[in-house]
Amino acid sequence: MPERIPVWLMRQAGRYLPEYREIRQQAAGFLELCYTPALATEITLQPIRRYGFDAAILFSDILVLPDALGQKVWFEEGIGPRLEPVTREAPLGSDALDHLQGAGQEKLTAVYEAVERTRVDLPADCTLIGFAGSPWTVATYMIEGGTSRGFERIRQWAVSDPSGFGALLDILVEATSRHLIGQIEAGAEAVQLFESHAGVLDADGFERWVVAPNRAIVHAVRKKFPDFPIIGFPRGAGVNISSYIEKTGVNVVGLDQTVPLGWAARHVQSVLPVQGNLDPIYLLSDNETILRQVHSILEAFSEGPHIFNLGHGVIKETDPQSVDFLVKTVREYRR
Ligand code: CP3
Repeated sequence: MPERIPVWLMRQAGRYLPEYREIRQQAAGFLELCYTPALATEITLQPIRRYGFDAAILFSDILVLPDALGQKVWFEEGIGPRLEPVTREAPLGSDALDHLQGAGQEKLTAVYEAVERTRVDLPADCTLIGFAGSPWTVATYMIEGGTSRGFERIRQWAVSDPSGFGALLDILVEATSRHLIGQIEAGAEAVQLFESHAGVLDADGFERWVVAPNRAIVHAVRKKFPDFPIIGFPRGAGVNISSYIEKTGVNVVGLDQTVPLGWAARHVQSVLPVQGNLDPIYLLSDNETILRQVHSILEAFSEGPHIFNLGHGVIKETDPQSVDFLVKTVREYRR
């Protein structure tokens, strides 16, 4: 039997799908979608019905965690996420973790209910992936107050007050571990840690604020669920990926599109299964170009374990038919 390459896409559910936009219009806000199990379940299933991906990723967001920890989080149309910033002078209170048992519990319980419902409705051969943002990445939103270009506030805090900043990341390590365990108990069969802003740190910062917290989370999850599959996605890490895979203990590493295929095959895939890494911009080109790029990735990773994915999330202007073409191209490929 020729080997079949599994395929799913980051942000496979979302605004490029008309059926998502329709549900989104009916809801009061984005977070309401995340906290309404029937809606989150429906949105998770939409791309599975359309394309038959090998995995479904729970529809939720990395920012449900700061929200559940008691920080003010909202989404503004046309802008994206907004948060009342946590600062060195006004840090997250030491009682933040208590929120997870209090007001935050109801919110996260709704997320776990969505996991449960999705697992029931999903085809048996489709893997359900839960996820969380990694502490550094979530902290960028918490401290910058939303999406940032230069990340000056968080980087300044980290270098000028590492112990105060470390205390915030410790809270996030604990909260993230519990959040992943909650999803696993509800039926998630793998989890992905999104470290989307790993690329803004120097090598020392990467060790301290990316490697150490991700490793601590992997340990906490494995303590409860030994051998549980964990995908790490240290986006923009470059050659620091080697340290990340050596020290964190993840089972699979997600590669962004900047990682050269030959280097990744030699230095990463020789150690761990790789996931990735088509630049999502190709989905806004023609089928011939998509085919060529998909084939070059499949060929580069043909000697070892590979899960096909993008190097980052689906762009909202993507034509759903291009995703269909991508999936068929991966399915028809034979090693
Ligand atoms: O299909 C999936 O991948 C599952 C759902 C998912 C969402 N967000 C839904 C979403 C996942 C895995 C995420 C992760 C996430 N959220 C990340 C890590 C991955 C990455 O993109 O780097 C980050 C950084 C966030 C924070 C976030 N949420 C931002 C910056 C934004 C606004 C930018 C944008 O793309 O609009 C969101 C909103 C968001 N999360 C949307 C979706 C479908 C769009 C919301 C809308 O409908 O307006």
